[in-house]
Amino acid sequence: MVRLNERLKKIYDQVRPGESVCDVGTDHGYVPLALLESGISEKVIMSDISAGSLLKCKENAEALLPDAAPFDLRQGSGIEVLESGEVDTVIMAGMGGMLITEILGKDYHHSHSFKRYILQPRKHVGRLRYWLLDNDFTVVHEDLAREGKFIWPILTVESFGRALFVNADPDDIEFEYPLTLLDHRNEHTEEYIKNALRLERLKLESKSEGSLTTFKELRTQKHRVERLEYMAERL
Ligand SMILES: C[S@@+](CC[C@H](N)C(=O)[O-])C[C@H]1O[C@@H](n2cnc3c(N)ncnc32)[C@H](O)[C@@H]1O
Repeated sequence: MVRLNERLKKIYDQVRPGESVCDVGTDHGYVPLALLESGISEKVIMSDISAGSLLKCKENAEALLPDAAPFDLRQGSGIEVLESGEVDTVIMAGMGGMLITEILGKDYHHSHSFKRYILQPRKHVGRLRYWLLDNDFTVVHEDLAREGKFIWPILTVESFGRALFVNADPDDIEFEYPLTLLDHRNEHTEEYIKNALRLERLKLESKSEGSLTTFKELRTQKHRVERLEYMAERL
């Protein structure tokens, strides 16, 4: 039986029954293998840029689901391994947020040919959210999952756009900690927000003491703290 930790299980849970899936950067392949095993997806593609990762995935697949062979394993970068519209849902997990934007940004029509994405960035989630909004993708579900000492965001994204506001900056805290995190709160939300608030307060303290801090930097940092205080009061 394929075993999933909390992070992988929450990614798995975002796939709807009957959807075909490609897991980009699959490495161990556990999520697509679990989807095949449970019958949630009949068609899964496992892809990775690394031959070593793909070999690991193949060995796991043959050991865990010998009856499901042959497996659709593809080596290559991002969604280049797919024909346009070839699957319903693309998963990209455990990759940097900026790498995800590079993969999606290569070809607008190709990336919009897939209906849904399940994205679990390791870094730069604010910049990823900004980029998605700016490129006609909409976050329809937010989740948080614990893995060891980390709490990771998981974004379910659909391929339709809403008009972007003006004067936004990719580093704005609103993209890192959107209010939708409160709408989709779970057992990790309080710790996630309070940790962020603690770190941002420490930064404010050190910026307040720094003689080189500009007024604008101080105001921005104060805004970051107040934003998180606003969210913490509504947990
Ligand atoms: C940290 S692992 C994540 C594995 C799994 N998705 C997870 O969330 O547990 C990142 C994987 O992404 C793969 N990767 C990195 N850049 C990639 C790209 N441009 N296209 C496809 N895979 C990539 C790496 O080879 C590696 O196997």
